[in-house]
Amino acid sequence: MPAGAENGYPSGHVLYRRLRKRFPRVVRGEGCWLVDDAGRRYLDASSGALVANLGHGNAEVARAIGEQAARLAYVNGTAFTHDSVEELAAEVAALSAPGLDRALFLCNGGDAVEAALKISRQFWAESGRPEKRKLAALKPSYHGNTLLALSASARPAYRDLFGDWLVEVHTAPAPWPYRCACRGEAEECPACSGAAVEEALLRAGPASVAAFIAEPVGGSSTGASVPRPGYWRRVREICDRHQVHFVADEVLVGAGRTGTWSALEPYGVAPDFQIFGKGIAGGYAPLSAMVTSRSILDVLAAGSGAPQHNQTFSQYPVSCAAGLATIRQIKAQGLLARCASMGGVLFERLAELKGHPHVGDVRGRGLLAGIEFVEDKASRKPFDRALRMVETLTEEAQAAGLVVWPQAGSAEGGGGDLILIGPPFIITEEEISELVARLRAALDATIAKIRERKRR
Ligand SMILES: Cc1ncc(COP(=O)(O)O)c(C=O)c1O
Repeated sequence: MPAGAENGYPSGHVLYRRLRKRFPRVVRGEGCWLVDDAGRRYLDASSGALVANLGHGNAEVARAIGEQAARLAYVNGTAFTHDSVEELAAEVAALSAPGLDRALFLCNGGDAVEAALKISRQFWAESGRPEKRKLAALKPSYHGNTLLALSASARPAYRDLFGDWLVEVHTAPAPWPYRCACRGEAEECPACSGAAVEEALLRAGPASVAAFIAEPVGGSSTGASVPRPGYWRRVREICDRHQVHFVADEVLVGAGRTGTWSALEPYGVAPDFQIFGKGIAGGYAPLSAMVTSRSILDVLAAGSGAPQHNQTFSQYPVSCAAGLATIRQIKAQGLLARCASMGGVLFERLAELKGHPHVGDVRGRGLLAGIEFVEDKASRKPFDRALRMVETLTEEAQAAGLVVWPQAGSAEGGGGDLILIGPPFIITEEEISELVARLRAALDATIAKIRERKRR
C-alpha cells in the first residue's frame, strides 16, 4: 500500500485489531515521539501499551539485538542454555524480591501468568497436596487473554463470550478507593485493608487453594490505584497463614514503571512468584519473566524434575539480549530514579486537570498515572457507556498528536472511563507540559462531542 493510503479493514491483508477504524501508519519512533508516513508526530504518553519504557530508537538495545541475532538467534531451551539468558536471569534475580532468584523467560505477560499458576499447582501436587488447586484473584483485575490467565481476570467484557471455557476463580474486591463504598476512608474496610482476601479464601476453602494472584498497584482495571501502605503485608500474612502462594503480577506496573523496579518493593513484602512483562525489554523484543524461589523449585527438582510449562520461545536468545540491554540502559541512565522524580513532575502538572468538571480522580505512582472521568463529580457517577466517552477521548487525543491508553467498563455495572498515562522514563519536563496541554484540549473536544450526542 502506498504511503498515506488508507490503512484499515477491508484494505490490505492485515487482520487489524479494530475492524471499523483507520490506522495511521507509523514509520519511526524518536524518544517519546512516533512519526507517521504523513509526517505527523504523536507524543507517546502511554509508551504504547505501557511497554516502550526506554523510549523509541535506543541504539544500544538495537545493537545488542542485532549482535545476538547474528551470533545465535535460537536454541531450544529444553536442550541448551546461552549467555544472554544466564546474564539476564542474574540481573532479574538481583532486582526481584528477596529470595526470588530463579527466572523463566517467555514472550508475553499472559504466558508468564500461566506458568506461575501452573507451577504453583505443580508444587502443591508434588508436595503431596494435590487438593490445593483452586485460584483466587481480585475483582476487577486483568492478567491476560489466554484461557487460564483470562479465568483469573475479573473483567466481564473480556470473559463473557468464553465463560464456559474458563475455570472458576474465587475473587475479593480490589482496593479501588475512588470506587469503594467507603471512598477509601474506613480503616477496616475489607477491600481497602486486604481483609477481603481472607474472606475470599475462606469461602473457597483455603485448604484447596493453590495461589492468589494480584497486581501490587492497579494496572488497567483499577487505573493505577495504589493500595494502602499496610495492604500487601496483610495479604502476605493471610496467604502465609492459609498456605496459599502469593503471585505478584507486575506485568504492567513492574520493571521500573512506578519508580522502583518492582511495584511491590515499597511495601517490603516478597511474593512467591513475581511476573514481569511489557516494559522489561522496552518493546524492542517480546519478553516476560516469571521469577520464583529455590524453595519452590527444590520440590520439583526432587519430584518430576521439570516445571510443566514450556513454549517454543522460552529463554529466546534475541529477547533475552533485548531484556539485558534494557536493564543495562536503565542502570546506565539512572532511569529508576528519573522515573520517580519525573513522576513527581507529572503528578504536579496533572493536578491542573483536577479542577475540570469531568475529571473525577488522578492517582498513581512514578510515571504511571490513572485518570478517571465521570459524568458527575459529587456522586462519582460514570458516563453512560453508550456515549463512548473514553473511546472518543482516545480518538481526540490521537487527532491532537497524543497517545493515551484507554480502559472502559471496569466500574460496577459495566460503566467507567479511565486512561493510563505512562510515558517513557526519558520524558522531559517540557514534554510533560506538552502532554498535559494536549490532553486538556482533547478532553475539552471530547466533552463538546458528548454534549452534542446527548442533544441528539
Ligand atoms: C497486569 C497484566 N498482566 C498480564 C497481562 C498480559 O500480558 P500480555 O498481553 O503480554 O500477554 C497484562 C496485559 O495488559 C497486564 O496488564
